[in-house]
Parts: sequence; C-alpha cells; structure tokens
Amino acid sequence: MHKMVSQKQGFIWLSGLLFLNVLLFSRADVHHYEFILQESEFTKLCSTKRILTVNGSFPGPEIRVRRGDTVFVNVHNQGNHAVSMEWEGVEDSFDGSDDLIQPGGNFTYEIELNDEIGTLWWHAKSAWASATVHGAFIILPAANEDYPFPAPTSDETIILGPWFRQELTEANETIAPGQADAYTINGHPGETYGCSNDTTYRLQVDYEGIYLLRLVNAVANETMVFGISYHSFTIVGQNGAYTRRSFATSLTLAPGQTIDVLFCGNQNLGHYYMTARPSSGRHITTGIVQYTTTAGF
Ligand SMILES: *[C@@H]1O[C@H](CO)[C@@H](O)[C@H](O)[C@H]1NC(C)=O
Ligand SMILES: *[C@@H]1O[C@H](CO)[C@@H](O)[C@H](O)[C@H]1NC(C)=O
Ligand SMILES: *[C@@H]1O[C@H](CO)[C@@H](O)[C@H](O)[C@H]1NC(C)=O
Ligand SMILES: *[C@@H]1O[C@H](CO)[C@@H](O)[C@H](O)[C@H]1NC(C)=O
Ligand SMILES: *[C@@H]1O[C@H](CO)[C@@H](O)[C@H](O)[C@H]1NC(C)=O
Repeated sequence: MHKMVSQKQGFIWLSGLLFLNVLLFSRADVHHYEFILQESEFTKLCSTKRILTVNGSFPGPEIRVRRGDTVFVNVHNQGNHAVSMEWEGVEDSFDGSDDLIQPGGNFTYEIELNDEIGTLWWHAKSAWASATVHGAFIILPAANEDYPFPAPTSDETIILGPWFRQELTEANETIAPGQADAYTINGHPGETYGCSNDTTYRLQVDYEGIYLLRLVNAVANETMVFGISYHSFTIVGQNGAYTRRSFATSLTLAPGQTIDVLFCGNQNLGHYYMTARPSSGRHITTGIVQYTTTAGF
C-alpha cells in the first residue's frame, strides 16, 4: 500500500534537505589571485640575467586553498612574449584551452577544485617559460576535515627547479631548453656550483616536530632524487591525492610529479644536508636542515 506523506511532513523533510545542503556546501570558499608576469633580474651561477617570473619571484607565488574551493587567477602579462598557463593535475580548470595571453593583456582562469587534495603545481605551458614561471598549488583539507595522518607541526613546500645559463626566450619556444646547468631548491642553487653568490635553502626544524614536506619536481625531462641525511620519510600523498602510507629513505620524483611526505625531527642538534639531484647524476644541489631545539632543551 502506498503511504502518503502529508504536506507538512513533506515541507519539514524538504527544509531539512536544504539545511543539509547548506551544511555540506557552504564551506567552500572563492579565492582571487593576481599574477603579474614580468621580467626580473636574478644572479645565479656567478652571472646575472633577466628571466620571466610571476610577481618577480622564482619560484613563483604559492596558491594555498582548501578542498572544494574555487580559485580565480587573473594573469597579467607584462612580459615581452605571449604566454598561457597550466594548472597541473586540476581536473576542472576553465583555462581557455591554449589561448595565449598577449603582452599587455590579461586573462582570468577559473579553477574549480573537487577531490584534489595535497600538492599540485602551476606553470607556463611552453617549455622555455615553464623553466622560470612555476609555483605550488596547495590544497589543504576542507575546514571540517583533518589530515588522515598525524597533524604536522608545520608544512613546507620544496620546489625542485632548473636553472639555465642561456637566455630563455620565445625564439627558442619550439626547442625545449635541454639539460639544465644547475638545479635549485626553492630557487637556491646551494654551495656546490662554486659561486660565492649562490644562496642555500635552509629549513629550520625543532626536535620532535613533525613536518609535512610538499615536494614538486618542476624540472622538465629530469627525474629528481631527493633526500635528507640521517632522516627518512613517510609518503602520504602524491599528485594531488592521498596515498597509502609508505616508508622511504630517498624520494624519486618523475618530471612534474609531486610527493607529500612526513618527516620527524629526531636527530641531535646540528645541520643536516638536504640533497636534490637528477637521476642521471650530473649535479648535486644541497640545502640544509637546521635544528633550532634539541632533546632536553
Ligand atoms: C602580485 O603583485 C600584485 C601587484 O603588486 C599584487 O596585487 C598581487 O597581490 C601579487 N600577487 C601575489 C600572488 O602575490
Ligand atoms: C658575486 O659576489 C662577489 C663578491 O662576493 C662580487 O664581487 C660579484 O660582483 C658578484 N657577482 C655578481 C654577478 O653579482
Ligand atoms: C584585462 O583584460 C580585459 C579584456 O580582456 C580588459 O578589459 C581589462 O582592462 C584588462 N585589465 C587590466 C588590469 O589590464
Ligand atoms: C635561444 O635564444 C637566445 C636569443 O634569441 C639565444 O641567445 C640562445 O642561444 C638560444 N638558445 C638555443 C638553445 O637556441
Ligand atoms: C625535453 O622534453 C622535450 C619535450 O617536452 C623534448 O623535446 C626534449 O628533447 C627533451 N630534452 C631532453 C634533454 O631530454
């Protein structure tokens, strides 16, 4: 027999549904970023050159939002060449396909996040511009969600990038830049390239702290190997998704890959080398993990 729902019951049921809807979806935020593509001067490997950047920084600014948010990025091209952007690993980006943003022009990309979580990255589409125009795209858990692993003391983004001695200009757009002359950790070549002008990336940690490292391999064509001496990692995510936890003493990142790992500050007070090298092994770039507190202090 068919059971009738009274009009009143129906109304209560419907308003309950609406309320649930509001609960489930009201937490997503909308973010607006302004990216200014501009040429900036940098000195690395003992020489100074102009490179295309976003807002004068290498690597570029970080986008940091929550799961399910919507992000608008207005890219203003104040450089000398047409450029378009790619939101690597984001399923729903209305990115104007391959439309180039002409010098003097601007374009607003709309990125609707769904299930992406953890670390992704953005970069210029063409190989020559991507070498200097790239940055991290961090997606934190939604406001009502926790990490599915021990909450980190802090999280740090580590972008492995290339550095070329030659000018990277549109003239070479069809030619990929080839092998980099050096590799950088968050823009720092470190001390192995023999130039006193080169800076070294330093990560400060506390004894017993738990750190979430968000690694991005922004080096086209090169598989990169990353490690921290005397420390090991628990892999918790990759390419914008959580993964089954696994243990590693060094991390291998394919071109364009991202990996999220936890590591514990469990060593004595001191400085420990962080290393990044291409799997082909031509160079090694160093950074430093520096303890600020130690056991018993
Ligand atoms: C880039 O620079 C512009 C102009 O100074 C500023 O309004 C904008 O907030 C900056 N964007 C980021 C992501 O830092
Ligand atoms: C590098 O640093 C040295 C001194 O430390 C300075 O004389 C030289 O001009 C610098 N080179 C560049 C390209 O800035
Ligand atoms: C951005 O581009 C639009 C046309 O697409 C133009 O109307 C607007 O003035 C531009 N804004 C800036 C700040 O350049
Ligand atoms: C790329 O173009 C610049 C300027 O046009 C030139 O100096 C450089 O040698 C070129 N590099 C390659 C690999 O063709
Ligand atoms: C890098 O990749 C590009 C394609 O993206 C390819 O044309 C080029 O030969 C590669 N270069 C090296 C050094 O592997």
